[in-house]
Amino acid sequence: MKFKKNILCIGAGYVGGPTMSVIALKCPEYKINVVDINKNRIKEWNSDNLPVFEPGLMEVVKKVRGKNLFFSDDIKNGIKKADIIFVSVNTPTKTFGEGAGMASDLQYWEKTAHEIIKYSERNKIIVEKSTLPVRTAQALERILKSNRKKIKFEVISNPEFLSEGSAIKDLLEPDRILIGSHQTEEGIKSAQEIIDIYTHWIPREKIISTNLWSSELSKLVANAFLAQRISSINSISALCEKTDADITEISYAVGKDSRIGPKFLNAGVGFGGSCFKKDILNLVYIARSYGLEEVADYWEMIVKINQYQERRFVHRIVKEMFNTISEKKIAIFGFAFKANTGDTRESPAIYITKKLLEERAFVSIYDPKAIDNAKIDLKGIDSNVKYEIDPYKAAKNSNAIAILTEWEEFKKLNFKRIYSSMKKPAFIFDGRNILNHKNLYKIGFNVYPLGKTALTHFK
Ligand SMILES: NC(=O)c1ccc[n+]([C@@H]2O[C@H](COP(=O)([O-])OP(=O)(O)OC[C@H]3O[C@@H](n4cnc5c(N)ncnc54)[C@H](O)[C@@H]3O)[C@@H](O)[C@H]2O)c1
Repeated sequence: MKFKKNILCIGAGYVGGPTMSVIALKCPEYKINVVDINKNRIKEWNSDNLPVFEPGLMEVVKKVRGKNLFFSDDIKNGIKKADIIFVSVNTPTKTFGEGAGMASDLQYWEKTAHEIIKYSERNKIIVEKSTLPVRTAQALERILKSNRKKIKFEVISNPEFLSEGSAIKDLLEPDRILIGSHQTEEGIKSAQEIIDIYTHWIPREKIISTNLWSSELSKLVANAFLAQRISSINSISALCEKTDADITEISYAVGKDSRIGPKFLNAGVGFGGSCFKKDILNLVYIARSYGLEEVADYWEMIVKINQYQERRFVHRIVKEMFNTISEKKIAIFGFAFKANTGDTRESPAIYITKKLLEERAFVSIYDPKAIDNAKIDLKGIDSNVKYEIDPYKAAKNSNAIAILTEWEEFKKLNFKRIYSSMKKPAFIFDGRNILNHKNLYKIGFNVYPLGKTALTHFK
């Protein structure tokens, strides 16, 4: 079959893989190639064991793989044949040199740009899919313009707003698509080509066109605002625990205000994921680099509150369990940073587990999808950790259970059975407020929800 256009995506990760699968599904006349330097990842994308777990992803992949969606490690040919290149490589926080711990590490981006120059033989549109610091396109253009082949590259910003755990739904029904370009004739023409992809299934009015810099910065700002809501409600959860106010009631009452809205107002053990912390720190770094100290301090506090929330959770466990958890067994239910994903990047569970181990507890971990990643995260420090594939086994003979991820299946567990297999007094720390606390109390647990009065049997 002759395809109308060749689209390439460089980076077959949590964003590249699902995004291109949905584009392939909705645009059968386009050929979509997804390439990655990680050969193993590509092998998994071509198997029945995809490297990313997302509800509905496998079904989409099965419909299009081998038809108009192809996963390969042949980056050279992929670039050569492409009309449009989406770049969706990772942009983690820098761990070295200037800006370490704050700025974005753009080395993967720069390497990709050089590869694009090396293998291109004609003009192309380059689409920034990764989340990047504002004005990255300018640096990118400077690199791309350094080619001696007289090839023209038009850079477009098209940040991704999908949320892990609901990626397919988010891609099929996004709130908006953002496309930033230079406001030149060439820029607007190239932006239109990207708009044409999305209008295959997304109403035109949901597609926002902006200048390049607004598009780049909007993505950082959107993540900063979302994280800000979580830190805001988490900070109030601490106050609730001191005052007998109830954080769920507060979230409900506050979220009913139509100016505020109910989403992202659930208190928890803190936000995780590969994006929020890195994107806010990047925003802080950019603000500081322009001398905007107050702006930088303001956004940095969101990350500090998140760390405080994680610390607070561990502190509460130790304090309530009579100031020692040494040689006590703590069962951790949920290691992923959120439900419906196996991703554990920046998961609060990593910090919490490490702290419990420092207090010399024995830890057993159950998670329906994230055990393999948990093993990688805790490698070298897990001699007192057991990874379980059965929650009942994880809880057996434990002194306490800590709920760290809001998996639906935790609500359906037989807590009577769990209670009878645990050491007494049995504690449960619900870091996501997903369980029925009154029932647990009736069973015999001492229950510590987050941001609410504890229900204990102690006099
Ligand atoms: N994960 C999310 O929920 C999410 C949501 C929106 C935006 N983003 C942004 O999207 C980008 C990608 O995130 P992700 O979660 O998919 O990352 P990821 O680490 O899962 O995937 C990135 C992939 O790029 C590959 N790669 C790196 N350098 C390469 C090169 N030179 N050539 C070919 N492949 C290369 C890596 O091997 C990796 O498989 C980041 O900038 C992130 O901030 C992520």
